[in-house]
Amino acid sequence: MKTLMIGDIVGKGGRKTLKIVLPEIIKNENIDFVIAQGENSAGGFGLTQKTSKEFFDSGVDVITSGNHIWDKPDIFDELDKINSKILRPNNYPTNKPGTGIYFNNNLAVINLLGSVWMGKIDSPFDSINSVLDELTNVPIFIDFHAEATSEKAAMAWYLDGKISALVGTHTHVATSDNKILPSGTAFVSDLGMVGAKNSILGMDKDASISRFFNGKRNRMTPVEKGEMIFNSVLIETDTITKKAVSIIRIDKEIII
Ligand SMILES: [Fe+2]
Ligand SMILES: [Fe+2]
Repeated sequence: MKTLMIGDIVGKGGRKTLKIVLPEIIKNENIDFVIAQGENSAGGFGLTQKTSKEFFDSGVDVITSGNHIWDKPDIFDELDKINSKILRPNNYPTNKPGTGIYFNNNLAVINLLGSVWMGKIDSPFDSINSVLDELTNVPIFIDFHAEATSEKAAMAWYLDGKISALVGTHTHVATSDNKILPSGTAFVSDLGMVGAKNSILGMDKDASISRFFNGKRNRMTPVEKGEMIFNSVLIETDTITKKAVSIIRIDKEIII
């Protein structure tokens, strides 16, 4: 089975890039399932019904998210639907809308949030321990939305052989450490993003610079035009063993 996992899609420019690039990759690479990180799709902060529909129309099967999922309440009802294809990190308290697990007969997708520099959150390690036993005989793909590379690597090594793949998201910076761990779990520290190349994490660079330069909290807006990057990885899993066979980066650049 071939699964594509796409990094944080930022704003209108990111969505437009997704719409142009994704259908071509699905066709050329014979992709069976697409998982995309959507927490920055609505103006850079959060996800809405409109932006999630655009994802699904572009060929995405399941949307994961992260710390920005609570920015736009418009999506909360969607998160609460039975077997929703839009996930929030599973280790938020259970009284929050939604769930961090999607599953069907062929696979499971789990979304977790890191505990380093991400605000107060339940342990992602405890959270994954409580769900893995219930998911048997399907390949499991985890989006671990986290800041610290060490925490992402620790989770991947902890789960090696128990899941098919763990990918990191959140930093918006693609890493080239994609590999298969000894017991068959594919891993990459960060998928990267779908957003503007000449930006800071997909956002207007001047607003970001001034935050660091003089502490002024100028409004951050996504860059919507020009050179755009599309970062993803393609993971192939064995149908019988559910282990990863390969993990390769698929990165594109286009101008919109
Ligand atoms: Fe993000
Ligand atoms: Fe994030």
